[in-house]
Amino acid sequence: MTEIIAHRGYRLVAPENTLPAFEAALAFHPDMIEMDVHRTLDGKLVVIHDEKVDRTTNGTGYIKDLTLAEIKMLDAGSYKEPKMANVTVPTLFEFLTFLKEKQFNQTLLIEVKTDHVMYPGIESEILDMVATFKPNYPIIYQSFNLKSLEIIRKLKPDAEIAALVFWMTPKVVWLKLRGVFDYIHPDIRILNKKPALFWRKKAHIRPWTVDKEADMRRVFEANIPGIITNQVALAVKMRKEI
Ligand code: G3P
Ligand code: CA
Repeated sequence: MTEIIAHRGYRLVAPENTLPAFEAALAFHPDMIEMDVHRTLDGKLVVIHDEKVDRTTNGTGYIKDLTLAEIKMLDAGSYKEPKMANVTVPTLFEFLTFLKEKQFNQTLLIEVKTDHVMYPGIESEILDMVATFKPNYPIIYQSFNLKSLEIIRKLKPDAEIAALVFWMTPKVVWLKLRGVFDYIHPDIRILNKKPALFWRKKAHIRPWTVDKEADMRRVFEANIPGIITNQVALAVKMRKEI
């Protein structure tokens, strides 16, 4: 059965990567929740997608240049819904506390957001923070940054790890063969352009971001291990029908 992964929570109904978005996702019982981690100027891990706060808050600037106190002052909700003006950017600590309170027992997909801004040491900080919660649910670490994945593999050899890819490069193939990561999470557009490439490797892929009905249907019918989607309710409904 194809697992359904709620992308940044349920971001179509609540501000992405915030506690209301994760709460909204949980209501549909997806198999996994996906979220993104960055680091503030004062070294705090925060759950947010972009490198800058501009798109999803009323502030401006890079997360790496703002303290947690400055980020916590920002309104991270009203860009999506005026009545959500009191929503803030959660820290990783707050997010993991939230999962504990909810007795979360699905899988957590943590994206290490080291795509352009580098946060030296963030991989071990995330692993350490997660370990303090002694989670009894599975966790998968993913990143577009293959170096981050190599670091995680060294620090935690038994971690489940996935590479996010826009395209299959020789380096991705080589690192997969070397066991640096267990799964490849490809852009769905790769599957649509070169389906044969991935259909053969379908036991190890979870494409993103699968929001169109036709794509979902193909993925469910091919029994691909997972899909990362914004359309949480639709995916749950479609999977029941297929
Ligand atoms: O989980 C896959 C997806 O999140 C990767 O892209 O930019 O949404 O983090 P992005
Ligand atoms: Ca992500």
